[in-house]
Amino acid sequence: LVDGDLLSWTGKTSEVYSTISSTPAYAPTLLGSIPDMGEQEAMAALDAALQAYDQGQGTWPTMKVRDRIACMEKFLDQMKSKRDPIVTLLMWEIGKSLPDSEKEFDRTVEYIEDTIEEYKTLDRNAARFDKHDGVYAHIRRGPLGVVLCLGPYNYPLNETFALLIPAIIMGNTTVFKPAKHGVLLITPLLEAFQNSFPKGVINVLFGRGRAVAAPIMKTGKVDVLALIGNSKSANALQDQHPKSNRLRLVLGLEAKNPAIILPDADLDLTVQECLSGTLSFNGQRCTALKIVYVHKTVEKAFLDRFTKAVDEMTFGNPWDPGVKLTPLPEPGKSDYIQELIDDAVGKGARILNEKGGTRYDNFIWPAVLYPVTEEMRVYKEEQFGPVIPVVPFTSIEEPLNDMAKSNYGQQVSLFGKDIRALAPLIDTLANLVCRVNLNSSCQRGPDVYPFTGRKDSAQSTLSVYDALRSFSIRTFVAFKDN
Ligand code: G3H
Repeated sequence: LVDGDLLSWTGKTSEVYSTISSTPAYAPTLLGSIPDMGEQEAMAALDAALQAYDQGQGTWPTMKVRDRIACMEKFLDQMKSKRDPIVTLLMWEIGKSLPDSEKEFDRTVEYIEDTIEEYKTLDRNAARFDKHDGVYAHIRRGPLGVVLCLGPYNYPLNETFALLIPAIIMGNTTVFKPAKHGVLLITPLLEAFQNSFPKGVINVLFGRGRAVAAPIMKTGKVDVLALIGNSKSANALQDQHPKSNRLRLVLGLEAKNPAIILPDADLDLTVQECLSGTLSFNGQRCTALKIVYVHKTVEKAFLDRFTKAVDEMTFGNPWDPGVKLTPLPEPGKSDYIQELIDDAVGKGARILNEKGGTRYDNFIWPAVLYPVTEEMRVYKEEQFGPVIPVVPFTSIEEPLNDMAKSNYGQQVSLFGKDIRALAPLIDTLANLVCRVNLNSSCQRGPDVYPFTGRKDSAQSTLSVYDALRSFSIRTFVAFKDN
């Protein structure tokens, strides 16, 4: 979708496969194909976004708030009718279970509805006059320009839209490249984009990031790089941008969120939270618990229950009732997880659960590794998949020191009963990460809460409330009382 036109594509295409097999003898399933776009289409998309923005003079950035909202509501209505095909594609393209796929769709609809409401409030508040020292100010919020949006494969709809929707509603124009896995599910929405927004406001490019996003960054004409994914891609794109041109970054990147289990933790609750925290969507969440620190006094009691619970999970296709573990969408991912397991075992860790490391086609059963030490790769690397490193500790200083040394700083989960004793610890943790979860696993929602991180985990803040601010700038009209 470039400049309001759905291009009829005759060029090279790439086939999109599902790692879910539709035959008993394992073979990936061909789902469709996407255009392999390149620099020419990328430049056309950028030009369309630049023209629609027109240095802030374009129809979109100058459009009345209520009219921009009307466009968004029109889009939302059409999107709602695409629930079935999008949910089906979420299951086939990324292997997300049916309830989680439905949740991703519904959460996105809700996110758009809430963003519209928040935008109305933002605009009402901005219209108020302020007065200080005899100077009146009429403060507004305005767009920043052209936003390049790239979303991740684990939430190809929801997280991409968590960038795209606030960027657009604030009056920016966009070029958007869907994730590599979870790309076909954007196609049912192309016509809705086309019907709902003026041309050039949303331009959608298919192809590799290197082929389409890099040339766009090179021009130096992008005002905001908005990406949820890994820092390798973010850095590569940022490096293309001419250093002399200013660029705002809205980034959601890696994390190595720890669970810290204290001696007085409620173990039934802790096991359940650690199970969903480490293994929801096979651990493919930036907010997943990626390392578990357990106090020596409760390690046996915790690990006995936890390993049993891991092996009681069910593996199957996303639409199977009650399924918890599903095929991994990235080819080669199981091999990477296997490497982490082999490395840890080679350096002295044990796989505690019986099924741990068992391979099924493109899936590997989650392995609980214990005791994990500093020299093992899984101690530091963000596994983003089904393997759980467990580290025993005797003094709270041990996990705290690790967190302080880590390159990441998104969230932590703290399990313990004595809230008074926890209070000083919570203060320390809050300076190491951006969200401290008490007796619950790490997560992004509810979407009104700030979603961000310290160090390499993020830049800028996302949420229904914050994203509108991340994609805009405050301007004001001032006049004196004279
Ligand atoms: O990949 C990171 C996601 O933002 C995780 O979101 O906690 O809602 O699963 P979630």
